[in-house]
Amino acid sequence: MNANEVRQKFLDFQVKKGHKVIAPAPLVLENDPTTLFTGSGMQPLLPYLLGKPHKDGTRLTDSQPSLRLQDIEDVGDPRHTTVFEMLGNWSLGDYFKEEQIRNFFEFLTKEISLDPAKIYVTCFIGNEKYGIPKDEEAAHIWQEVFKEAGIDAKIAEIGSAENGDKRGIKPGEHIFFYDDHENWWSRGGGIETTPLGDPCGPDSEVFYDFGEDKQDVEKYGLAHPASDGARFMEIGNQVFMQYRRKDDGTFEELEKKNVDFGGGLERITAASINSFDVFKISLMRPIVEKLETLSGKSYENNTDEMRIIADHLRGAYLLAAQGLTPSNKAHGYALRRLIRRAILRALDLGIADNFLSEIVPVISENYTELSDDILSHRADALAVLEKEEYAFRQTINKGIRELVKLTKNELFKLQDTYGFPLELSVEECYRRGIKLSAKYREEFDTALAEQRERSKTASKGMFKGGLEDHGEQTVKYHTACHLLLAALQKIVNPSICQKGSNITSERVRFDFNLDHKMTDEELAKVETQVNEWIKADLPVVHAEYEKDYAKNELKAHGQFWDKYPDMLTVYTIGDPENPVSREVCGGPHVEHTGVLNSFKIVKEESSAAGIRRIKAVLK
Ligand code: ALA
Repeated sequence: MNANEVRQKFLDFQVKKGHKVIAPAPLVLENDPTTLFTGSGMQPLLPYLLGKPHKDGTRLTDSQPSLRLQDIEDVGDPRHTTVFEMLGNWSLGDYFKEEQIRNFFEFLTKEISLDPAKIYVTCFIGNEKYGIPKDEEAAHIWQEVFKEAGIDAKIAEIGSAENGDKRGIKPGEHIFFYDDHENWWSRGGGIETTPLGDPCGPDSEVFYDFGEDKQDVEKYGLAHPASDGARFMEIGNQVFMQYRRKDDGTFEELEKKNVDFGGGLERITAASINSFDVFKISLMRPIVEKLETLSGKSYENNTDEMRIIADHLRGAYLLAAQGLTPSNKAHGYALRRLIRRAILRALDLGIADNFLSEIVPVISENYTELSDDILSHRADALAVLEKEEYAFRQTINKGIRELVKLTKNELFKLQDTYGFPLELSVEECYRRGIKLSAKYREEFDTALAEQRERSKTASKGMFKGGLEDHGEQTVKYHTACHLLLAALQKIVNPSICQKGSNITSERVRFDFNLDHKMTDEELAKVETQVNEWIKADLPVVHAEYEKDYAKNELKAHGQFWDKYPDMLTVYTIGDPENPVSREVCGGPHVEHTGVLNSFKIVKEESSAAGIRRIKAVLK
């Protein structure tokens, strides 16, 4: 079955079950300060999941092109793609768990003809802290549904994915309980990181089993549905959206309980042809075959590169066909990045000439069934992409001129800083008679490993953000910390940087560089400034950016630029065009400064030479 057929079958099936097909939203979100691209089918439906009536009724369905740049580093494995289509269906206060589970099972086993014995499912184990019960109801519905298909499905308690890696699954088990990292869904992920005000709930995920031989046990541990290995692939997620997170961090039941279902078209299609590799499906295979022809190399021996090129160029095409052009600003930069990464990988394959004119038509041919409403600029897409390719090649050629001036030790720097790949450097050195040490590869690999270690350390630190926990009060203090730094920079000295912080649910302790004890007047002014920003109830938003862009264009505040990973999260407080504060940070934060209520500095003292420390509380 090809992907176009699966998409059509899904929509027809949902219509048969009383759903109305709605038009998907654009990939590029222009006016949403919290995110750059549509990342799931539910995103455009947020207000309706919170209770607003939808003009098309209470049963909706669509296929939503989605982009998750946060997955870009995972592309290269058999299942991750940055861009994908999410098949979706929604009940807005209409049917609930039983009808959803039965319908999706029917779709998979009857319409797509999946073998029920290869289907495995997961349910939410419950959470004591927030009083959310274990989802026995969903598990029992599943047991009944399996039984009707002739399968005696046993239930197992797994808890965390790490537990699963050690435990694996036992014969007969098909239904598994996991914690909120696997079976709770909100736009922010698990329970603790659910955004305030958002709809959310326990979910039940559906997996397809590609066979024991697909699991690399040494690398990923024993196989179980939530493992990173290739035996099980998630093909659908049914979110029982029955809660809303309140401003105090607790959860209240929604008046109307919703279902939010999303399943990757590419993955369901892959399951339908029993291929654990999504790059073998109709939307991908022709791109890969074209790459084989252009490079004269096989997919089998160049799998990662070909997957990355195919994924990125498909994403780039869909963005350009929706009217986006490459630039150095947020959305456009994402497009530029996809194109450049694909071109560099193509160089690894030996494709050194312009090749988008060959590949893009292969991609666009697959999308003739997507409507002109969504692909409104498809006629211009190739020209837009080719222009970027041409410009980037000039950069690469300039890079080659620089190369002749470099020595072996700088090969790593050339790749790390300028994105100029090692293979190309080596080839050019050879062509130009530059002698490399016999150990150039080892030296390069050592430098790369060191750099990875640095960025791992930095992102760990970044995401911890000095927070004791992610409780509501602690999160408020975290946002207060950003406001305090911004006020210090504005009132005392623009060159003030954060030198450390420690945040608990009771206070913030904040260290920064300053060569004098703060005067009473400075302290009073800083406190007043923070309180004014709290009163103004400024929005707090975050988005992912390329490191260079965050630093040089957004001028975000960051402590560890040389250690950050390539992509990072930036939190902005206030008007994005002229923000009060903009910092590299892993969050979490409140959504509006108003909830901080009032800010008070209780102490200012010396912490070390040239470093001052402020302790402050919220009331
Ligand atoms: N909104 C759910 C997801 O993105 C279905 O997985």
